[in-house]
Amino acid sequence: MDLVVIVPTYNEAENITALIDAIQLQFDSMRAARPALNPSILVVDDRSPDGTAAWVRAAARRYANVHLIEGDKAGLGAAYVRGMTHAMEALAADVVFEMDADFSHRPEDLPRLLDALDRGADFVIGSRYVPGGRLPPQWGWLRRANSWGGNLVARRVAGLGGVRDCTAGFRAIRSSLLRRIGVDRLGAKGYVFQISLLHAALRAGARVAEVPVTFVERAHGLSKLRLADITEFIRHAFALRLADSREFIRFALVGASGVAVNLGTFSALLALGWQAWLASAAAVETAIITNFLAHNVWTFEARRPAGRLRDRGMRFNLVSLLSLGLSTLVFVLMSKTFRHLAPQWWQLSGIVPAWWLNFRLNSAWTFAE
Ligand code: GDD
Repeated sequence: MDLVVIVPTYNEAENITALIDAIQLQFDSMRAARPALNPSILVVDDRSPDGTAAWVRAAARRYANVHLIEGDKAGLGAAYVRGMTHAMEALAADVVFEMDADFSHRPEDLPRLLDALDRGADFVIGSRYVPGGRLPPQWGWLRRANSWGGNLVARRVAGLGGVRDCTAGFRAIRSSLLRRIGVDRLGAKGYVFQISLLHAALRAGARVAEVPVTFVERAHGLSKLRLADITEFIRHAFALRLADSREFIRFALVGASGVAVNLGTFSALLALGWQAWLASAAAVETAIITNFLAHNVWTFEARRPAGRLRDRGMRFNLVSLLSLGLSTLVFVLMSKTFRHLAPQWWQLSGIVPAWWLNFRLNSAWTFAE
């Protein structure tokens, strides 16, 4: 397995040499447990004025598995996009790690992140907010509140609900997942890249695992996080929510148009002399097909769904069948429990969960990226 630890750097001359040595030490123990492992380090430096790159070049003379790419400073996210693309294309990475250069992520935690991938996850987070995870004791209430608030916004606004540490920058990710997402399309240049990537991973059906880590206060130098990064973070969280809502609303509109297609086809076929039951079945299938095509070109236009159109069509049909099953089940249960209600209420009680199931399954499965 080819594994690449990506370390973005901006003015990290004081840290980078010691970090590379510390990571190599972990590589030795990881290789002892997995002989087929081929680990390397990729430093993505944005022409740091303090000469970080020179220290990386010196390390690359000592270790054949240390690589450097340089570019203009365009933010942490932009550096990661360049790093991930290079790791997958030039270094044939099967797995990439995200890691800070300043020792706030402990190199000795690297093997535990890899273990979680072995257990079947494809997006592993070194998490400060699961039991066993820790924040630096010297962090004051303001930094704690900032980090906690950032995660709250990510969970509640950007819809990253199930994840505890959404903003963490210590991660292990399978390249196959990154390819499915298309990291170059994320368009988040700064620190906000972290939630943008996680959001895309969840939407692509990633199996996310959180491994507790102790976050350490940086050894040397200063954090590059600024107030502008925080405002960009909040703005982007709302943009992610809006993108999700847009799909939700479009799904509902297409569904409503399907009712018109259904009724129109039904009436036309009856006029042509078809038997009613046959006309009804054909009308339902026609609406399923037109809905499916509309979802392809409009509802999920921002996605690049995996697989062939025909396979997606089959999935869509299957989901429709399941939704019909659920709606009938709820209808029957309601009719037995609430006999005094008008049948329209039984029907409505079936439509709502069936519609919800339809949206969730098609969003996470049929049109998954
Ligand atoms: N190449 C490049 N370009 N690297 C950068 C840039 C940039 O514009 N900005 C920051 N870095 C590098 C730093 O040199 C460091 O190695 C790493 O990215 C993290 O930067 P810090 O400035 O130390 O970030 P932080 O400690 O405030 O934030 C960390 O924790 C956050 C969660 O609390 C990062 O891991 C974030 O990703 C994370 O969201």
